Amino acid sequence: MFLLATLILAIASGTPIVKAGPLSRPPKFEWSSTKALIAFGDSYTYVQGTHGHQNFSFIGDQFDLAYDAKTLLSNKIVQNQTATAEGGPNWVQYLTDCGVHKGLTSPQRCKKQLWDFAFAGADISTEYTPLHHNFTVSLVDQINQFKQYGHPALQRNLPGFRQDKTLIALWIGINDINDSAKYSVDFPTFYKNLTDILFESVETLYGLGYRSFLFMNLPPLDRTPGNQAKTSPSPNATQVGWYNAALADHAAAFAEEHKEAQVMLFDAHARLTAMLDEPHNYGIVNTTNFCAGYDQPDISVEYEKYGCPTPLKRYFWFNSGHMTSHVHEVLAAEVERLLLQA
Ligand SMILES: *[C@@H]1O[C@H](CO)[C@@H](O)[C@H](O)[C@H]1NC(C)=O
Ligand SMILES: *[C@@H]1O[C@H](CO)[C@@H](O)[C@H](O)[C@H]1NC(C)=O
Ligand SMILES: *[C@@H]1O[C@H](CO)[C@@H](O)[C@H](O)[C@H]1NC(C)=O
Ligand SMILES: *[C@@H]1O[C@H](CO)[C@@H](O)[C@H](O)[C@H]1NC(C)=O
Ligand SMILES: *[C@@H]1O[C@H](CO)[C@@H](O)[C@H](O)[C@H]1NC(C)=O
Ligand SMILES: *[C@@H]1O[C@H](CO)[C@@H](O)[C@H](O)[C@H]1NC(C)=O
Ligand SMILES: *[C@@H]1O[C@H](CO)[C@@H](O)[C@H](O)[C@H]1NC(C)=O
Repeated sequence: MFLLATLILAIASGTPIVKAGPLSRPPKFEWSSTKALIAFGDSYTYVQGTHGHQNFSFIGDQFDLAYDAKTLLSNKIVQNQTATAEGGPNWVQYLTDCGVHKGLTSPQRCKKQLWDFAFAGADISTEYTPLHHNFTVSLVDQINQFKQYGHPALQRNLPGFRQDKTLIALWIGINDINDSAKYSVDFPTFYKNLTDILFESVETLYGLGYRSFLFMNLPPLDRTPGNQAKTSPSPNATQVGWYNAALADHAAAFAEEHKEAQVMLFDAHARLTAMLDEPHNYGIVNTTNFCAGYDQPDISVEYEKYGCPTPLKRYFWFNSGHMTSHVHEVLAAEVERLLLQA
């Protein structure tokens, strides 16, 4: 079953869009009874773990991929000004309400547990784009690592863990499209190739028994502060649209091939575009720039000292490439609305 955010509204209004399959009924996905969220991706999604690589991961890095169940299950999510790429909680933390509060949180203590294997700076694979650092774990390697260490640990050692009470969330492509924006390739084919590799990894997760998948598409990255200042943004809106079309095609094809999977694509592009176009509806006043002092320890109080007329939460952009924690909070609420309707 494949659900696109916009199509969900059709379900809500009573128009059937899901054909009853003759062979097997998809297990009903229920956000309210979902016990865990397992996340993969890049800096938009990563959380800091006490066993992680500081500023990059919850656990380990490319030179330190192996871990045992005890290490994973005793690992804690750190929340403070430098523990995410947003200066505060990100979308998966708000969505699960796990690791939102300052200090340390054991995922096991959360009503919805967040097991987050995203790595800041990740691209999909080294096949088409280079690693940002030699310790970066690409999406493909995040999922290989999960297959080898994370999944067995959760399945054997986490009380009550079940794949059918778990949602897999993937948000990736942000670094890929940026790193490759100036390549001389046929972009629609190139993006199809990238998403081919992405879905080979999704297939691995399916093989481990996971059936509920949430994909996030690319934000309007042609509207970062840097790109707004250029006459020719890079990536441009056409490229972002091509990537998102490749992702949507692939998600639909994956759902077609796996009738018992629940495949959800959240149109982050549409939601974030709406926020940029009508910022006042979301308490945002600044969509064009970011506050230069965003990473200063006293920024929450002394923003004016850094030439910023308003607090960070009134900005859309946190820095040159990341949205503020406030934007993540709004987005998470909209993702939750989609999940509750699925
Ligand atoms: C993590 O990033 C912060 C800035 O956000 C920096 O001050 C700190 O040195 C970094 N830590 C490491 C280990 O690189
Ligand atoms: C955030 O927590 C990490 C890990 O506990 C610590 O190293 C870092 O200094 C903290 N940063 C701030 C700004 O409190
Ligand atoms: C990783 O890169 C750093 C800095 O570029 C370098 O000092 C280090 O030797 C590299 N590590 C390995 C194992 O290649
Ligand atoms: C896409 O993948 C195909 C098959 O591997 C390859 O022949 C082609 O060169 C790739 N194209 C781009 C633009 O990456
Ligand atoms: C965006 O960039 C692509 C690749 O260079 C190009 O084909 C396309 O025409 C550009 N779109 C716009 C609106 O400039
Ligand atoms: C947006 O932020 C920039 C950088 O802090 C600032 O110079 C500008 O005045 C702000 N614009 C508005 C409308 O607040
Ligand atoms: C995108 O790439 C450019 C260089 O091409 C870099 O300056 C910028 O920081 C990158 N943006 C993000 C969000 O990584």
